[in-house]
Amino acid sequence: MPVTSDRAFFADLGDRWLERGRKRLQSADLTPHAEIFGVVEEMADGIARISGLPDVRLNEQLRFEGGETGLALTLDADSISAVLLDDAVRIEAGMRVSGTGEVVRVPVGEGLLGRVVDPLGRPLDDGPPIAETDTLPVERPAPAIIERDLVSSPVETGVLVVDALFALGRGQRELIIGDRATGKTSVALDAIINQKHSDMVCVYVAVGQRASAIDRAIEAVRTHGAPERCIFVVASAAEASGLQWLAPFAGFTMAEYFRDKGQHALIVIDDLTRHAATHRELALLTREPPGREAYPGDIFYLHARLLERAARLSPELGGGSLTALPIAETDAGNLSAYIPTNLISITDGQIVLDSRLFAANQRPAVDVGLSVSRVGGKAQKRALRQVSGRIRLDYAQFLELEMFTRLGGVSDPRFKATLTRGERIRAVLAQTRFSPMRQADQVALLAALNAGVLDAIEPEAIAALRPRIGSVLDASADDLVAAIEDNEKLDDAALERLVDLVRSLTGTGHG
Ligand SMILES: Nc1ncnc2c1ncn2[C@@H]1O[C@H](COP(=O)(O)OP(=O)(O)OP(=O)(O)O)[C@@H](O)[C@H]1O
Ligand SMILES: [Mg+2]
Repeated sequence: MPVTSDRAFFADLGDRWLERGRKRLQSADLTPHAEIFGVVEEMADGIARISGLPDVRLNEQLRFEGGETGLALTLDADSISAVLLDDAVRIEAGMRVSGTGEVVRVPVGEGLLGRVVDPLGRPLDDGPPIAETDTLPVERPAPAIIERDLVSSPVETGVLVVDALFALGRGQRELIIGDRATGKTSVALDAIINQKHSDMVCVYVAVGQRASAIDRAIEAVRTHGAPERCIFVVASAAEASGLQWLAPFAGFTMAEYFRDKGQHALIVIDDLTRHAATHRELALLTREPPGREAYPGDIFYLHARLLERAARLSPELGGGSLTALPIAETDAGNLSAYIPTNLISITDGQIVLDSRLFAANQRPAVDVGLSVSRVGGKAQKRALRQVSGRIRLDYAQFLELEMFTRLGGVSDPRFKATLTRGERIRAVLAQTRFSPMRQADQVALLAALNAGVLDAIEPEAIAALRPRIGSVLDASADDLVAAIEDNEKLDDAALERLVDLVRSLTGTGHG
């Protein structure tokens, strides 16, 4: 190759390099930039007091020097208090903090289904990173009245006592309340597990619980339910209190995504008593003035604006729904304590679980007298309403009579009949957990109860009868099963057929 062309080649290369350099220099922005940093003044109990961030908004996400995130909780004139959403061990006074300009957002979308995540949407299972489609803020306004529709279709929990006596509707908020270890979580998990064959997406939010209890709950859904349509949002007792505080809001945002797409979702918050305690702890640490039982005055507003987000949307907005089952723990059955009364007044009814019933082996330990469902009755399947109408009254009469007769025997045959029937009602309302009952099977069992078929067998035999009803209905009355599912009313002949089928299982023959 001739020397000249080589030289020309290198000269050309040099020119182009020079040209590129000049261009880059021209476009370089050499004006000074202002970036606002605050400084951690004090760090204790997961709360950082930060100065020098005057423009930070309430609930804005903050980023610490080491990459940890925080949440601005209170804004004072010359400082802000932020709660840590990560481990606080490396944060100390003097570190730099900056605002992100955004309130806390969480990933939403189908990518979360089947996953266990923390309240910021970071995976806690061994799966891959979340394939997020979008993010939404954790605090979102509840739908306005005009954007809502009446609750009109049922949420089937598979728990007979709930479906028959305290029917839930899509869009309803029903509190599950009771003392420690009375089966609160079990009722909520049964409702989730029963969505195995429905179109509902379920979100289970665990706030401030032991990791072992959370694992058991997730395992139960994986074994008995449809985990691929569930999201588990977990902030265990060991996590930063900021994360526990955030968890219910994050869970609602993740569930709302499906509501707003016209789908149906069910959210369980386990539990709001712990959440209230976390809120109180944070408020006291950030020196908000304490109110009743040392809870800050905004605790009612906090939970009200959370649960308001459960709704049935109007057809114009897609007709989706979000049903909420918040859980609350009572102390010695005291429903009139501060947090329970708050939550009872915010929700559309409550399932009350009683520790004495639980101890007497009545499970689920639902107190039929204190429980109520204010809007779901309209959504109940017609056939189920037909057969469950009298039960509550009969059972109440029986309980009263039982108390009277505990001291001495009864001889009056009318009383005897009430007692016989009452004992059967009690057995029908009992149900082992993780064994949900189909609506048609519930209708058949209750029809048989009303017809007196169960009076002829021992109450203990009813539990064994229960799982066999499904197959006999499928074999001999699939038309009635379909009719019940289609929300049809049953005529006397149809009811009689159901009663006869259950009678055939009792082995007592006719009469
Ligand atoms: N329907 C049921 N049938 C049989 N056993 C039940 C039923 N419901 C609950 N249990 C038993 O009661 C125990 C406590 O139930 P669960 O954990 O649901 O109560 P909890 O009120 O959520 O308790 P905690 O206050 O600890 O959260 C369960 O481990 C289970 O053994
Ligand atoms: Mg529990």
